[in-house]
This record gives sequence, structure tokens and C-alpha cells, in this order.
Amino acid sequence: MVRRSRTLFALAGVIVLFSVLTAPTKSGKIPAPLLSGAKIDAGALAIIQRSCQDCHSDRTRYPWYSYVFPVSWLVGSDVRGGRRHLDLSRWNESSLTRRERSLSEIANQVKDRDMPLPQYLWIHGNAKLSDEDVRAIFQWTQAERARLIAENGQATGPQP
Ligand code: HEC
Repeated sequence: MVRRSRTLFALAGVIVLFSVLTAPTKSGKIPAPLLSGAKIDAGALAIIQRSCQDCHSDRTRYPWYSYVFPVSWLVGSDVRGGRRHLDLSRWNESSLTRRERSLSEIANQVKDRDMPLPQYLWIHGNAKLSDEDVRAIFQWTQAERARLIAENGQATGPQP
């Protein structure tokens, strides 16, 4: 009995230690708004806030279990990977070429239903995109791309 409780105690200690080591670090800055500079209607923006912003912006919400190892580690790696590929809080800092490319990528990801990542949907059931959500995001990407091209011409030159 004593041995068993010692093992449990040690295991709890390891979980606490790894949770501290892998705890999500917040920037401390006021999170930038999503998609600043883009023209997007409230409906499409709400879908992106619901289903994409946790991994693709500064506005990640960290529920309590995201502080517990190994979830902390998985969440940390998804958020880092997500922001690296597409950071909606840095939209207006990206080059025109980059934004046009991101819009095509967003369209492909939602049409193919590759995003949101399946492991995220296990817990965040309400982030699942309905057919209507996919249509709304897809139509926005097409309209925004057309707007950027009309305003600035087809982007050329070196990729960022
Ligand atoms: C749980 C975290 C998570 C959520 C939620 C999420 N993504 Fe991602 N996303 C990632 C990660 C991680 C990557 C990096 C590539 C990969 O692992 O597939 C990525 C990559 C991408 C890319 C780049 C793909 C490429 O071709 O490089 C796009 C575009 C994208 N996501 C769009 C979205 C959209 C749109 C949503 C919401 C509908 C969304 N993501 C929701 C984590 C997430």
C-alpha cells in the first residue's frame, strides 16, 4: 500500500513538473485583432473566431486542461505550428503576395476539411464546420482575393 501511494505520488510529481515545463507562454501583449485590414463580414469572421483563432492568432484561449501535461505539450506544438503557417493577428503585416496565397490556402483547407485539426474537434465539437460554414469561408476568400487583386494588381515579385 505504501509503495503504491509512493508511486502515485512520484507520478503526480512528474506530471506537475512536465506541466510546468510545457505550460503555454502568453506574450503578455494585448492580442491584436484578427484579419486587420481585410474586408470580412461579421458572419465569416465569427466562424473563423470560433474555429481557427485558437491556433492561428494571438487570441488563443487556454482552458485549464491545456496546462496539464501531456495536453500542454500537444497544444503548444499545434499553436506554434498553426501560427507559423498562418497568423491572423499579423495579417496586415504580411505582404500582398502572402495574403493572396494564404486566402487560397484557407479555401483549400476548409474545402478539403483538413482544418480545424481533428484532435481539436474531439474537444471543441462546436468548432466543426458545417457545409454552410465552409461555403461562407470559401466565398469570403474568393471575394477578398478579388478585392486585393483589383486594388493592387496581381501580386508579382519575390515571395516573402
Ligand atoms: C488545433 C489547432 C488548429 C486549428 C483549430 C486550426 N488550425 Fe490550421 N493549422 C494548424 C497547424 C498545426 C498547421 C500547420 C500544418 C499542419 O500541421 O497541418 C495549420 C496549417 C494551416 C494552414 C496552412 C496550410 C498550408 O498549406 O501550409 C491554413 C491555411 C490553415 N491551417 C487554416 C485553418 C483554418 C481556416 C482554420 C479554421 C477553420 C484552422 N486552420 C484551424 C493548426 C490548427
